[in-house]
This record gives sequence, C-alpha cells and structure tokens, in this order.
Amino acid sequence: MNNDKILEIKDLNISYRQKQAAVSNLSLSIRRGEILTIVGESGSGKSSLIHAILGLLPASVSISGTIVYKEKYVLKDFDDKLRKEISGKEIAMVFQDSLSHLDPIKKIAYQYDEFILAHEKLTKEECRKLERESLKKLGFDDANRILNSYPFELSGGMQQRVGIAMALTFNPALLLADEPTSALDVTLQVQVVEELLRLSKDFNTAMIIVTHNMGVAAHISDNIAVMKDGKMIEYGSKEEVIKSPKTEYTKKLIEAIPKLEDIRFADRKSEVV
Ligand SMILES: Nc1ncnc2c1ncn2[C@@H]1O[C@H](COP(=O)(O)OP(=O)(O)OP(=O)(O)O)[C@@H](O)[C@H]1O
Ligand SMILES: [Mg+2]
Repeated sequence: MNNDKILEIKDLNISYRQKQAAVSNLSLSIRRGEILTIVGESGSGKSSLIHAILGLLPASVSISGTIVYKEKYVLKDFDDKLRKEISGKEIAMVFQDSLSHLDPIKKIAYQYDEFILAHEKLTKEECRKLERESLKKLGFDDANRILNSYPFELSGGMQQRVGIAMALTFNPALLLADEPTSALDVTLQVQVVEELLRLSKDFNTAMIIVTHNMGVAAHISDNIAVMKDGKMIEYGSKEEVIKSPKTEYTKKLIEAIPKLEDIRFADRKSEVV
C-alpha cells in the first residue's frame, strides 16, 4: 500500500501574513487512483492547499512543511525545470475559475496547441487528434467548433469543461481540481463527475477534488477531508466520514446534502438522472 503512495503532505502551514494562517499543520497522503475530496466553506484554505502542491502561491506567502511527490520530488521548493517537467503532464490542475486562465483573444485551438507543445513535440495534426479525443471525453460532440471558438463564445460551463479536457490530455498521474463542477448546471455536473470517476478508474489517476458540495464528495470519494479555518478537522474514508463524522460541523454538512442530490450523488447506484 505504501508504495502506492503518490503524494504526501506533512505539517503544511501557509500564511498570507494575515492574523490567521490560511492553512495550519495540515498532513495528508494520496495513493495512485485514489479520489480525495476536500470539502469546506469559503475561505477555509482549500485553494491555498492545492495551489501549494504545484508551487503556484505568490512568492510573498510564507509556507512551511513538506510536499513530496512519488517519494522523490519535493514540490514545495521545486525549481522551474522540475515544475516544467511535472506540472501539466504528471500533475495537472483544473482551476476554480477557468475563464481567467484562458486568453480571451486567442482561439481555443491555439491555446490548446500551446499547452500540448509545452510538453510534447507533436505535429499540428497530432495535437488536433489529442485535443478532439480529450474534448470528446468531456462530452463535446462538436470538438471542432469548440477548437474554433474564442473563450467568450463559450459559456462558463463549457470553458470549465475545456479546462478539464486540457488538464486530462496527458492522462496525468495526479489531477488537482478546484471546484471543477461549481460553474456547471446539475446535468453537466453529473456528467463531469461521472467522467472524472471513469477516468480515475480507467487510468488509475489520483485526484484531489475541491468542492463545496458534500453530496458530490459522498458520491465520488475514496477519502474525504473537511477543512475549516485552515485546519483539517476531519479526514478519513468516505464511509467513516459520512457514517460517523467526528465533528458537529461535518454532521451539519452531511445533513445539508439536499435530498435530490442525496439521491443523485450519495445513494445513487444506477438510476438515470
Ligand atoms: N492572494 C491572497 N492574498 C491574501 N490572502 C489570501 C490570498 N488568497 C487567499 N487568501 C486568504 O487565505 C484564506 C484561505 O483562502 P482560500 O482561497 O485558500 O480559501 P478557499 O477555501 O479556496 O475559499 P473558496 O471556497 O472561496 O474558494 C482566506 O482567509 C483568504 O482570505
Ligand atoms: Mg477556493
């Protein structure tokens, strides 16, 4: 089991030099193919945590602790060369706000090519093939139209799915997804969540998925972590956390799963939404 460990975080502290640390003494680990969801209210430190994994926090932030990938790469301090080697391909990120990560004046195809060519030397045709395949996986039947669009011609949900498709292009070993479904309507949320689950199974992709939605967490996770005020107040298998939550806060989150979503995500076996 231990060899299976892909990422280990120990005693992570992140501070933006405010009174309260954004993340305090946080430790967790994740195995190959595991889906870990991080649930918690706004400002609890979820994005700070996953940005720290890829070294994306501003230089002014004070950060301590260790983040080790594949028992070898210490990510917290990684240099540009290592970052280029690992990020995007081995560890991929879906940002909370995909829109701000797409250039408004370049067509999707152009930006997607740039992303692929930063990692692999491929011809234009090879890029197009990869792009179409990846977009299809995210439910775009009209991949060519998407590739020919500017970001403003796509809805927020479509942009988010493009961001997820890009992140999954190289079948990363670890996917970090910051609220990947919050901009989507419910039907698309289900589709994207199901797709993430399938990809995790098919490619043994480990995923850390940040969500506000305990219903989503209850459906897709192997493990669930609950964050509050920068601290991880609950961490365990989905069954442990859902069936016997240790804190009142987690109990409230579970009780707040709307009945419909309860059916949709938590108890769902095979019913069609
Ligand atoms: N760039 C920044 N500069 C200063 N403080 C920041 C910055 N980014 C985050 N913080 C602070 O760090 C804390 C954690 O923020 P973070 O964005 O990690 O929370 P979150 O759980 O992702 O919230 P949300 O659900 O709203 O996305 C908050 O108190 C926030 O105000
Ligand atoms: Mg956030």
